[in-house]
Formats: sequence, structure tokens, C-alpha cells
Amino acid sequence: MYELIHSGTHNDFVSLFKVKLNNHIYFLKKSLCEDDNYKILKEKNGFDWYLKWVSNIQIKIELKKSKYYELITPLYPGVNYKQNSRIIGNENVIERLVHYYAKKWPKDENFAIHGDLALCNIISNNQDIFIIDWEHFHLADKQYFGFDIFNMLFISLWYDGIKKFFFMKKCLPFLKKCYSMLFDYKEKENKLFKSPFLMTKKYILENSTNFGDGKNVLNKFIITTYDDDILKKLDRLIVNDY
Ligand SMILES: Nc1ncnc2c1ncn2[C@@H]1O[C@H](COP(=O)(O)OP(=O)(O)O)[C@@H](O)[C@H]1O
Ligand SMILES: [Mg+2]
Repeated sequence: MYELIHSGTHNDFVSLFKVKLNNHIYFLKKSLCEDDNYKILKEKNGFDWYLKWVSNIQIKIELKKSKYYELITPLYPGVNYKQNSRIIGNENVIERLVHYYAKKWPKDENFAIHGDLALCNIISNNQDIFIIDWEHFHLADKQYFGFDIFNMLFISLWYDGIKKFFFMKKCLPFLKKCYSMLFDYKEKENKLFKSPFLMTKKYILENSTNFGDGKNVLNKFIITTYDDDILKKLDRLIVNDY
């Protein structure tokens, strides 16, 4: 049985199906035109990188290069979160993800950016965390270590209602905690160390062609719509007395 999860939702010609076949469940991402085959390829490269450098999960991600490329990912059991997941109420899973990233993500020339890290793109269970949806994957300068975490935190903060001071104040100690889990005094070379959110925005704007097909970056990444001054203020609150 094929269940259509989405088709063409990101302004692209890619569909996602959940397939149930002989008691086996897998996800099938399929390009619907030759021009978008490279998106499937990019996602496969992302999974390969992840399974080589970060995750120990034994899972076979299969790329089928027929006229329209297909990516087959077995169902990974666990909890998956909604797209509009906030910080408040999800502190435990976010903390787990930050810890996972801080501990496992390469900080050397093998460093890479997932580009769309969010709670809706992780599946967690008691044993492990599995990161999916590698469409924006690209190798990057190791000085941007932390990018995926601050992008994820900003998106979640936005769903908390970043403009409402009450929520900001409530989230601050948690943001500081995440910051301190990622950085210590040895990492002053890091671009995000002094201004995590501002540099996250700058990275997206300066490297937009690395994200998906390079279009719609402004619409997709909410942080790019915020003024530098607001981001600087937020950065000062988080970095200040650390
Ligand atoms: N391997 C998998 N195991 C379990 N759930 C998955 C898997 N792949 C996709 N999903 C589910 O399908 C949803 C969409 O998949 P995703 O790869 O994130 O595509 P999209 O580009 O639409 O965000 C995920 O949020 C998750 O609920
Ligand atoms: Mg997704």
C-alpha cells in the first residue's frame, strides 16, 4: 500500500510515500522530473555522510537511479515531532539533540551542515536519535560548527512567539544552557561563538546556493527575515555572562 505523505510541498517536484509491503514499512522519496533528480542524490549524499561520521545506526538507505530517482529509507521507530514544535515543553528532546550534536558531529574538515535540522526532522527513541530529511546537506567550513543547532533553536523560538517578551524570558536560561553545551573556551575560532544567531543568518544569506536548490531561502529560513540588531541583542543575552 502506498500512502502519499506529500507531493510538491517545497516548490519542487518530489513526492514522499509511506509504503507498506509484506509487513515491511519504508519511506519512498521520488523525483517527479529529471531536473529534480539531483535533490534525491543530495539527500542520499547527506545520509551517507551522516551514517559515516555521526550515527552508528545500521540502516540501509537505497538510491535507485532510474529515469526519476528514488530514495528508499526504512521506517525508523520512535517519536517524530510536529513542524511547529516549540522550545517550551520540548526542552528534554532539544537538550538531547544538542548533546548528541556536541558529542558526535565532526568538528574538523569532515564538518557538514544538515541545513534543515528541526524536531520534525528527527526521530528519537530510548536508544538513539535518527536525523532524516537531508535535502539541504552540504560540506562546510568547520568554523560554522553549531549552525544547525542555532537554526533549529531559532525556528523553535519563533514558534514560541519570539516577539512576546514573556516567552523570550522563559526560554533564555535554556538557550544559554544549549550555548554552553556547544562551546567552551577552546572554540574561540568558531564563527558562532560570539554571535550565534547573527552568524547563522549571515551564513544562510552568503551560502544560499548550498541550501536545496538555492531558491526560496528567504521564505524558508525565518531567521533571515530578522534585523541584525534584533539578532545581536539576542546573542548578547545568551553569550554575555557565559
Ligand atoms: N525513515 C523514516 N522513519 C520514520 N519516519 C519517517 C522516515 N522518513 C520520513 N518519515 C516521516 O515522514 C515525514 C516527512 O519526511 P521528510 O524526509 O522530513 O520529508 P519532508 O521533505 O517532507 O520534510 C517525517 O517528518 C517523518 O514523520
Ligand atoms: Mg522534513
